Amino acid sequence: MTQWKPLLQIVHISDLHFCDNYDDKQKLIREQRFWRLKARRWFEERNVGGWHEGSLGHDSVGLEYFEQFLQDYAANEREWFAAENAEFTPQTWLVDTGDATTFGDEQSIEMAIKRIDGWRRLLHDCPARLLYGNHDAWPGGQPVINMGIYDRAAVRQKALVGSIAAWRDEEWLKPLVVQAPGGPRVECYGLDTVSFRFVPNTLALGETSKPALERLCAAIDSQPVPRAYRILATHHPVVYPYEPDDIRDRGIPKMQLRKAQRVLDHLGAAPASSAATRQPYVHLFLSGHTHASYPAAALPDNVSAIHSPGLGPEQLQLVGGSLMQIRDRTRTREDSENPSGLDANFHYKQVAGFSLRRICTANQQFQILRFYYRDNDRTALQLERLMFVRLPNALRYQLVESTISRTRLSC
Ligand SMILES: [Fe+2]
Repeated sequence: MTQWKPLLQIVHISDLHFCDNYDDKQKLIREQRFWRLKARRWFEERNVGGWHEGSLGHDSVGLEYFEQFLQDYAANEREWFAAENAEFTPQTWLVDTGDATTFGDEQSIEMAIKRIDGWRRLLHDCPARLLYGNHDAWPGGQPVINMGIYDRAAVRQKALVGSIAAWRDEEWLKPLVVQAPGGPRVECYGLDTVSFRFVPNTLALGETSKPALERLCAAIDSQPVPRAYRILATHHPVVYPYEPDDIRDRGIPKMQLRKAQRVLDHLGAAPASSAATRQPYVHLFLSGHTHASYPAAALPDNVSAIHSPGLGPEQLQLVGGSLMQIRDRTRTREDSENPSGLDANFHYKQVAGFSLRRICTANQQFQILRFYYRDNDRTALQLERLMFVRLPNALRYQLVESTISRTRLSC
């Protein structure tokens, strides 16, 4: 019988929405920007573009219990935090796919970076891949409220985001790497999908550029070993079963990654005739942004049985929900029409072409991805996915049993 052994676990968190005693309304009052304050009220009252959820900060109880979870996890999961004299020590990586803050203000960014570093240390000083999200590109508040002064504010915001070393895209081109003796190699990169330009930043739209994609492919090409299982962290999902209302508000596009097809063309499956050895460039896309995890369902035994428009047979997109955001009242009201408990957080997307369509909208959740290898097989991996959710009025994060699954991957 084949023995699968632990290779790597990824603690994937996203959309933390830290808010350290900061209030965008107070900022406008202090700066005597009363017209902007009025405009802000107008957007808030009409919940334009999902304003309520977009302006909510983190829940300090969720924060406390997430840290408690990490402490217990690192103490109890002996198999994953093996002693150093073992023949091979599996690795742990902390991957954060952005929106560390709600408003992009300096004090919340500082708080977020400090806390994330603390989590990394709780996970036995593990390596981390940290991205920023569209909210971290907000200059202290929604861009639309800064209309007219936005361009100057965006320059300052870009410099602030750039001052965090882990958030620089040149960092994301240096992969996190693990390889067991005789087993497959896994690499993890990052790609910027966030725009600081006024319109896309206002509408939470994602963008990438051709040169950025070419730089990523060149970084992958420069690795000494061509065969590897490659993971790419992005804030905006490249593939997601968006319904029309998710990506349009009063006819205006929002939320999604623009020109996602260009990303897929660069990183997707190669034609059968291709002589390239590094295809696909990316096997697993890991993202956040939607505040809903996807798929919130057990994965089939083999990744090639999952169908998503645009993805090749060995490719997979996984999306994490927000880690610890305060509950959005509008969403809670909608969910209360459903059965209570965890069931209320599951929804089916009515979108053609996706074989898995269930999402989980719980505002406090994260996932752990465990990769296993077997001796003398450099091409096969097994992925075990664990989703954790913290429900309103509950203290601890709980494992969602119905999503536990093991899937065969290959590279
Ligand atoms: Fe977010």
